[in-house]
Amino acid sequence: MKSIQSNIKKAKKYLDKNHCIAVPSETVYGLAGNAYSDISVKKIFNLKKRPMNNPLIVHYFDINKLKKDCHINDNFIKLYNEFSPGPITFVLKLKKNSKISKFVTNKQNSLAVRFPKHKLFRSLLKNLDYPLAAPSANISTRLSSVKASDVNEEFGLKIRYILDGGRSLIGVESTIINLLNEPVILRLGGLDIYKIEKTLKKKILIKNNFKKKIAPGQFPLHYSPGIPLRMNAKKPKKNEAFVLTKKRKVSYKNYYYLSKKNDLKQSAKNLYSLLRKIRNDGYEMIAVEKIQNKGIGKTINDRLHKASKY
Ligand code: TXA
Ligand code: MG
Repeated sequence: MKSIQSNIKKAKKYLDKNHCIAVPSETVYGLAGNAYSDISVKKIFNLKKRPMNNPLIVHYFDINKLKKDCHINDNFIKLYNEFSPGPITFVLKLKKNSKISKFVTNKQNSLAVRFPKHKLFRSLLKNLDYPLAAPSANISTRLSSVKASDVNEEFGLKIRYILDGGRSLIGVESTIINLLNEPVILRLGGLDIYKIEKTLKKKILIKNNFKKKIAPGQFPLHYSPGIPLRMNAKKPKKNEAFVLTKKRKVSYKNYYYLSKKNDLKQSAKNLYSLLRKIRNDGYEMIAVEKIQNKGIGKTINDRLHKASKY
């Protein structure tokens, strides 16, 4: 308990000085900086090698802190009450007098906001006078990080501090919903769209791949292990690692299991770290068996699809 307190204090100290640090979340680790500070936000883009026109998600402790920066609406309240804190990101209208750095939003008047559930991230946010801009803690286009050692692999000594909160429980990024007008899903993620539809009592459009500037996944390659990957494979070719979700009678050295019992949640949780492991084991190609396209399986397929654009 004491060490948790002192780690939060340390994290705050770095952030107050406009440094970037890594923070744990239930989805994936974030590369965080003060969202009100131009200096901090520019550092995030530089470290990630992220194009400045791809806006960042800003993380808040709760709705009260958010109200200073964004206009809220009925759909937001319904979804917030049901799913926050948790793996959902809302795109809302930015207030004119908000203190959010213009670099966060690429000068647009909308802001993506999230209320993370991870205990450490929450207690950090509670202790700060500003919200945290935090994209996933990886070099742009690469695999996201789900544990402190992944962040280390991505950035090494370039970041001052990693607030180690263990392994991310969900393992894929948040679901993004645009609430500026009629709700639209912009990115599949950790929260099942079916649950969102149930709460809003209507079918919701998915615009996962549209080519506007602000669209998530606007770059064809994303979430990439850095080696070619193919989906829906029946069997591996020579020298390919084979990623499976169901146990085989006979397993070979190149067989890697996301799950042994076709458990999609477990598969999502293991996705990024397994791909990372395969690459680090020295494979040059990856084949993935067909993954059920339901629930969080849809998110897994979305990520694999983007990773296959190598
Ligand atoms: O789970 C997550 O969402 C993680 C954790 C750290 O919170 N964060 C994350 O951030 O995945 P990032 O930067 O890797 O992905 C954010 C996505 C980007 O694709 C970006 O284009 C989109 O959100 N985005 C940010 N602001 C937006 C806005 N105002 N309108 C539409 N899309 C936006
Ligand atoms: Mg990302």
